[in-house]
Formats: sequence, structure tokens, C-alpha cells
Amino acid sequence: MGGDQDPTRALVTKSHLRPARTSITRSKIIYESKRQKLAVASLIQEFTILPAKLKEIKDHFKSEMVKGLAKQGETLAMVQTHILGRLNGSETGTYLTLDIGGTYLRVVLVELSQGSQVSTKQKKYAIDSQLKVGEPKLLFDFMASCIDSFLVANDAVIPKERQLELGFTFSFPVLQTGINSGTLIDWTKGYSCHGMVGKDPAEFLQQALLSRNVKVNVSALMNDTVGTLLSHAYQHPRTVVGFGLGTGSNGAYIERVDRIRKRDTAALGDDVEASAQEMVINIEFGAFDNERTVLPITMFDNKVDRKSLNPSKQLFEKMVAGMYLGEITRNVLLDMIDNRLLFRGQSSRKLGTPWAFLTEHMSVIEEDSTPELDEVRRVLEDNLGLGLVESSETPVSTNVLADSTDVEVPVQTSGGESQRGGAVTTLADRQIVKLIVELVGQRSARFAAAALGGMLEHTMGYTWARDEVEKQEGVDIGVDGSLYGFYPGYESDLMSGLEELFALEAGMSFLFAKEGKNEKLKDRVRLGRCLDGSSVGAALGAVLATRSAAQPPC
Ligand code: BGC
Repeated sequence: MGGDQDPTRALVTKSHLRPARTSITRSKIIYESKRQKLAVASLIQEFTILPAKLKEIKDHFKSEMVKGLAKQGETLAMVQTHILGRLNGSETGTYLTLDIGGTYLRVVLVELSQGSQVSTKQKKYAIDSQLKVGEPKLLFDFMASCIDSFLVANDAVIPKERQLELGFTFSFPVLQTGINSGTLIDWTKGYSCHGMVGKDPAEFLQQALLSRNVKVNVSALMNDTVGTLLSHAYQHPRTVVGFGLGTGSNGAYIERVDRIRKRDTAALGDDVEASAQEMVINIEFGAFDNERTVLPITMFDNKVDRKSLNPSKQLFEKMVAGMYLGEITRNVLLDMIDNRLLFRGQSSRKLGTPWAFLTEHMSVIEEDSTPELDEVRRVLEDNLGLGLVESSETPVSTNVLADSTDVEVPVQTSGGESQRGGAVTTLADRQIVKLIVELVGQRSARFAAAALGGMLEHTMGYTWARDEVEKQEGVDIGVDGSLYGFYPGYESDLMSGLEELFALEAGMSFLFAKEGKNEKLKDRVRLGRCLDGSSVGAALGAVLATRSAAQPPC
């Protein structure tokens, strides 16, 4: 995920650390017409996930996990990562990692030392958009060139006594065939380098390094969420889940081998000892419910899906992940405009441009607490050119609508209206936009809660909460990604979703405070922000890989 986060960081918020959402008070919206009010009510209904629906989604998620563990090729890939057992805190050494995500790639030199101490030295490189959809060779050559230049720049601190081992974080669905090998299932997040599906990304990187004569061995290939899990577990041994909520979305968790019915017994053995072991599973939950059985998919989601590079795939991801939230919102806004329910029916060139409304804009809008919604105005008028008269041929109408059903509530033309150089957004426009943004953002966090709830219920009693002591100790979850890290209110929405879900499950009641104890769910289910965890995790993966190569299983 590390490679995914950065574009949002600079812009996302003013305060940077877990900003608060300032919710719009729904009863205070000054509607300009009855029709407008009805349209907003209908959006609220479509985007609000009530507790019963949330539970249905979580329950389906759980049963899909079981299906994916039984058979290859199910909707949830449930990838066996070949990472067995847990870290024991003795992992030390200096490793190189390459972390490629959505927008950036990062090369990191990770030093792991006694006492689970971690220090890093890193450089980030922007990935040209052409590389994402071109020849795979060009993309992998670029990766190798970044590693090469990083090594040259850091020559003084690179250990010379042995060949450098590299942990490769590749944040796309890969069917792992070993700890350092696997085949790409599909590209996601706007990548589509042709001819790469079915090929091994680790092999491509190794070849690219060899052809540049860069002496680095790709010893671990791992998903970013697996890296997040490992790096959080290095410092919090009770970690069983690594969660990625950024440009894309996904989760990894610790599973008991005997529950992986599709396991490769030739590689793992089928004796009691092997079955009692644990393995990290990469769920690839972005594909959850591609069959459209439980998700309440709106027409706005369908629009995003159809225009994406991977239509009909990653449907859940397209409702949850940061890459898509702005685009969903843009589609809702356009629909409102086309129905002359916002900005007097006037759009702008910018809002008409696919992907131009960013999740960063949503963050700014969510945070705005000014009475006149000045920040919302800034985004709408200055960034998106909305409410502006773009030419003399397209005058802004002063009448809201000609529709006879709309005459009841007059347009508010004073006080809340902004008129800078012909710009006109009304307070109602801004309030409604803020509400729409909130609906899309909250829905994402609640879906993420359903996924996390499913993972925790599935593993409860197997890899955590196995006895009374463990139940008291609770569980740790490492979360990486800009949505979780920076989107206003995301963490608290996620946590309230979890609370609602577990309150409906008798089996999870032990997670709630006992009488007389001032403990909340969040004290037992501890979400830990693990920014850039995937790179450190890849280094830990490289340790595990070199360790298992040194001691092959008997
Ligand atoms: C990919 C996952 C990845 C997630 C978060 C998704 O698009 O399929 O492999 O973990 O994004 O980066």
C-alpha cells in the first residue's frame, strides 16, 4: 500500500492526522425545491447501509471466505502466501524492498534490529501513467532502474558482505506458487500492461535487475496487505489481520492450515503437525460479490464500473477504495445537475471529466465546519469551476426550474450565495454536495467494517480468542492506506460499523465492556495505523524466505 498512499497525503487535509468529519445536520439543509429534497432523500436511502444489510454483507463475506479456502478459482481468491507461522521478534538484518502500488513506487532499505527495532531509508518514484498500461518489460525495467539509482545514491550505507536480498511488495492479485514466486491473476487500480496475466512478477523483476547487472536477489514476493500484517505483528504480536484501505482495498489474515481445504498437501504435508500450523492468506477481497448477490449496487457504481479498465471485476473495491470514491461522487453530482437539482443545472468542463473529482476533494469537503461551507465553495468553484459562467453563451439561469412541482420553496439568493466573478453556488448546493460526499465516504467505511467483521468472526477461536486469556487480550489489526489514515471520520465510521455488527452476534459479546469496566470495543479490537508497513513487511518476508531456504522443511 505504501506505493499507493502518497498522492492523497499532501492534499487530503489541513491537519494531517485523523481529521474529524463535520457532519452536515440534515434538518438544516435549506432545500431550494421539493423535488430537490425528494432526490436527496432517495440518495440517502440508496447509500445508507442499515445494520441488517451490513450483517447480511458480513455473513456473505464469511461464507465466501470458506468457499475460497476450499477451491481454486472462487470469487475470493484466498491466496496461500506460503508464509507459515508467526514472527518471533528475533528477525534482524538489512534488507531492500521495492513497493509498487497505485501511483508511486518506493525503494526502501530496511534495517531490523534486536527488540523489533526498525529503521528505514527510502526514496519514492512517481510512476508514469504510460508505464501502467504499456509493455510489462518497460514497467519492470523502470523498477530495476529505480533500485539501481537508489543503490548508487546509498552506496555508503549498503552492507557489502553479502548479496542484498529484496522483498518485493506487489499490490495486485497474484496466485502465489512459493514465497518468491507467483502468477498475476489480474491487474487492478488502473493498470493493464498487456500479456502479463499468468506471468510471474518476481521473475520479471529479477530478469530486469540481471539485465542491468544489479546484484540483488528477489527473495520474497508479497501482497501489500501481507506486508502490513507482518510489519504490525513485528511490534504487536497479537496481530492477525493486515488491512489495506487506500487507492485499492484488500485484507490478509492468519489462517490455520487445516482450514485451507484446497491446500497443496504435497508442499505442506498433511500430517497433524503441518495442519496445526498457520499460514497467511491474502483474501483479495476487492472481488467480493462480483456476482452481485448482496451488495446494494447503485446506478452510480455501475457507471464507474462500466467506464473502468476492468468492468465487472473488483466490484467491492470500486465501492470501497480511494481510487473510486471521487468518481462515484462525480457521477451522483452529474445526475443531480442533469436533473437541474444542483448548480441550476450548470456543470463545468472539469466535472465533466472522468476521474477529475478526487477523493482528496471529498476529504476537504468532509472537514469543512464553516457556517457557509467556505471550503466546499473553494473546491466546487475554484477547483472544479462549478457555478461559474463559462462563456456568454452559457448564462447561469437565475430561475431554479420551470417544473411546476418546484415552486414551493424559493431559491435563496442572499446570504448563502456566492457571487465571485459570476460564480454562483448556493448554500443549498454546498450543503447537498457535502451530504452526498458524506454518504459515499460513510458507505465505504461501513463496507470495510463488514469485511473486517467477517475476517474476525471467521478466525475467532482459531488464531485469536482461543481461550479466556486471549479473549481478554483482544486482537490487533494493522491498517495501511490513505483512506484509513487521512479521510475524515473514516476510522470512527469503521469502528461503529464493527460495533453494530458484533452487537448482533452473541458469540462476539465478550468483546464488549464488562460491567464496571471502562473498556470499549476499540480497546479489544485495536486498529493500528501502519503507514508504510508494507515495505517493512516485505523485509520481514525476505527474512522468512531466507530463513526457510537455510532450513528446508524435512
Ligand atoms: C489489489 C490487492 C491490493 C489492494 C490494496 C487491490 O487492487 O487487488 O492486491 O492488496 O489493491 O493495494
